[in-house]
Amino acid sequence: MAVTNGIPAANSKNTLTVTDNRTGKSIEIAITNNSIPAAAFTQLKAPYGAGEREENDTPYGLRVLDPSFVNTAMITSEITYIDGNKGFLMHRGYPIEQLAEKSSYLETAYLLIYGELPSAAQYSRWQWEIMHHTFVAEDLAHIVRSMRYDSHPMSIFIAAFASMSAFAPEANPALQGQDLYVLNKSLMNKQIVRILGKATTIAAMAYRIRINRPFALPRSDLSYTENLLYMMDHMAEPDSFRPDPRLAKALDILFILHADHEMNCSTATMVHVGSSLVDPYSCVAAAASALYGPLHGGANEAVIRMLTKIGSVDNVPSFLARVKSKQELLFGFGHRVYRETDPRSKVIRQVADMVFKVCGREPLIEIAIALRDAALADEYFTSRKLFPNVDYWSGLIYKAMGFPLDFYPVLFVVPRVAGYLAHWKQQLDSGKNKISRPRQVYVGKSRRDYVDLNDRQERDIDGKNGLDEIPHYISKRRLTKL
Ligand code: CMC
Repeated sequence: MAVTNGIPAANSKNTLTVTDNRTGKSIEIAITNNSIPAAAFTQLKAPYGAGEREENDTPYGLRVLDPSFVNTAMITSEITYIDGNKGFLMHRGYPIEQLAEKSSYLETAYLLIYGELPSAAQYSRWQWEIMHHTFVAEDLAHIVRSMRYDSHPMSIFIAAFASMSAFAPEANPALQGQDLYVLNKSLMNKQIVRILGKATTIAAMAYRIRINRPFALPRSDLSYTENLLYMMDHMAEPDSFRPDPRLAKALDILFILHADHEMNCSTATMVHVGSSLVDPYSCVAAAASALYGPLHGGANEAVIRMLTKIGSVDNVPSFLARVKSKQELLFGFGHRVYRETDPRSKVIRQVADMVFKVCGREPLIEIAIALRDAALADEYFTSRKLFPNVDYWSGLIYKAMGFPLDFYPVLFVVPRVAGYLAHWKQQLDSGKNKISRPRQVYVGKSRRDYVDLNDRQERDIDGKNGLDEIPHYISKRRLTKL
């Protein structure tokens, strides 16, 4: 096939021919945007081979197995593009570096959700709406207030969003009909501004519970990140209190960098859950739950724990040796898509310097630099194409700014809400929403008959004789004997 600059010549066929050697049948599958539809493989049906398990469903079509979605595209999208081999990221065509330098978080959110940069009038309306949807229902505030002071703030964030669904019955397709967001775009836009507006309020509440202080009411005259810092830090001063504008600006850039990242684990969750047409508050709660894990948005927190454990530059080589023998993970390194340095991590280094000028240099940075340099000079990491990702540096900035360690994922999820909403809207607006329902390949026991209790042989579970005794809390007072 003649290929020029990677594009097949006009007379060549943009198709894939697959021959099933079990039957000799060939199918030709169209290649669109360098992708093929997995459903095409269901055409390849075969009789059961000798001794083959019935559970393979062989006569019903070939299945495509891709655990952890290593090479399966879940959607076609117009929102974000990543070139992982070049370390390039753009939203709606605009490179992330330009957005970080020139845009603001709310403007980038508009771009992600609506596809174009807003005009001046559109932008000011957008900001006004979001900053006037920051209050949460008082009963919701009571629910949040009832959480333990030592709860992980992400648990609070997730619980608050799940509860918010109960406070918006008019926005719930389960109550109002499944066409709700197809028919009523203004209702959809209202939920978008409400979710963006309330995300910072919930985040600040999660923090105030930690410090055992009453919630501070949001301020609609401040910028998005200023308002977040205000709600976290405002104490008994008169209304003249304003967060440091340099820190609000640094946080705004960090928010732009975190606003979207195409089909990451939590956005894929948003799309998956959203495909059932459940309300958007429940979708955000589900997506935030996915983000909370240490392999995803919890990595920024894990990086700081790792650097603290390493303790000094002298311990870097022994730590890396443990990583190479798979006893440890180098948090903040590696990415499913990037095979080059994550471009966000380059911008974030500059933000780190901005913040260090205001708050003082974070001492762990020396270990972070030594660790990065040693890893980038080591064949183990370079051959696996493991480079720093955004989480490698973001935690250091949050630490320098004095945020508690377990609050870092909250500072990741709040801006990522824009990406979640952009994907939710894209999916519902497409008119092609179909419930996400992956296949599986069943490799378990074949059909067998139920065995009565007294006829069963005892079998080990997890290499042991059934469940361990599960400890129950029993007070000492109940253990006294007469
Ligand atoms: N430290 C040590 N080894 C690693 C790391 C790491 N951080 N990441 C990957 N590897 C090794 C892995 O053990 C495997 O080695 P081998 O070929 O010998 O089995 C090889 O590199 C390929 O890794 P993989 O597990 O196939 O990679 P993946 O695409 O499944 O995982 C990842 C991607 C981000 C989960 C993983 O790199 C990781 O766990 N990194 C640390 C956690 C982290 O920083 N997460 C934040 C990701 S960026 C922000 C976000 O999306 O949330």
